[in-house]
Amino acid sequence: MKNQQFKCVLVLGFIALILHACTQKQEKKAENATSSIEKSEFGTLPNGQVVTLFTLRNAQGMEVKIMDYGGTIVSWTAPDRAGKYEDITLGCDSLSGYLRGVPYFGAIVGRYGNRIAKGKFQIDDNKYTLATNNIGNHLHGGIKGFDKVLWSATPVSGDEPALKLTYLSKDGEEGYPGNVQVEVVYTLQKDNALKMDYSATTDKKTIVNLTNHAYFNLAGAGNGDILGHELVLNAATFLPVDSTLIPLKAPMAVAGTVFDFSKSTKIGLRIADKTDQQIKFGGGYDHCWVLADSSKNLKSAAVLTEPISGRVMEVLTTEPAIQFYTGNFLDGKIIGKKGHPYPFRSGLCLETEHFPDAPNRPDFPTTILVPGATYRTTTIYRFSAK
Ligand code: GLA
Repeated sequence: MKNQQFKCVLVLGFIALILHACTQKQEKKAENATSSIEKSEFGTLPNGQVVTLFTLRNAQGMEVKIMDYGGTIVSWTAPDRAGKYEDITLGCDSLSGYLRGVPYFGAIVGRYGNRIAKGKFQIDDNKYTLATNNIGNHLHGGIKGFDKVLWSATPVSGDEPALKLTYLSKDGEEGYPGNVQVEVVYTLQKDNALKMDYSATTDKKTIVNLTNHAYFNLAGAGNGDILGHELVLNAATFLPVDSTLIPLKAPMAVAGTVFDFSKSTKIGLRIADKTDQQIKFGGGYDHCWVLADSSKNLKSAAVLTEPISGRVMEVLTTEPAIQFYTGNFLDGKIIGKKGHPYPFRSGLCLETEHFPDAPNRPDFPTTILVPGATYRTTTIYRFSAK
């Protein structure tokens, strides 16, 4: 009898053990499914400063890696229609790759994203001269723009992983007036969207136009060109440019031109139209589309679809315009992540922003920031699959 009781206790104990193990496994699974942010060392700058890489993960499995150098998105995974996550942004495996020189891969661009004609502008009676680093014009903040500085990064607590980056751009830096305190918060949302909240203040009248310069290839970074992607741009007009990519007079209607993306259209369909002078000037698409909704509300600016994988990316923004650039300057010389070269048009950018050369164009929405005011914009890149 005693023996039987002992056996019974043993069996019950065993069952309890199994049950306990199962609950622990489930708890672990739940823990894995929640969002997180991790920190690791990415490399060292020539001046000895350490560059940190932050990995943001959400419960669905999206992972975004951001380094504090340039506030750069180093990698970003998104699911295809079978739920397979793949890195969809161009970039490098190591810091040294970025330091060798890359065309703004994934970086925060500023103090003025896009071009300023001849690097000159005026606020009140004060004339300013900036670097002319792009065929006689100023581009993306100059020689050492916000993409090439070390930002201060702090993870933000909350139910969604977020990273706050701050940078003080000193009065006179790259020729711009005013001490400008900039903040960019990247939040990886539950719905597989990355939200970018930009803000800035100044102590002297200045100009600010911030954006992110991620190159997307929804078939996977390093996996062919982007010509088969389909794009919608919610814009009725775009800004025609001169041969140095400075906007000409007024915005032009896209209807009846190769710039009409008001309905989903394959990017490669009309990109080689040799009869279109604007395509010639851009070497493809490298133009600013004026969003149909000119309000400062968050609105859908673009929808990009890669039909083979089924990946879809929607861009929402509070900005009035979007620069669509088809990677026309990529030439395969840069070896990116996993040893993949990035050839001609292997990535595309959808840079939400104010208009190029706005500081010289009273007819364009202003980019002037005054002391006491706060510059604030938000852009969201949201992924799904179909
Ligand atoms: C922007 C410009 C392009 C090019 C890239 C970087 O998108 O509009 O002309 O300079 O940046 O190569």
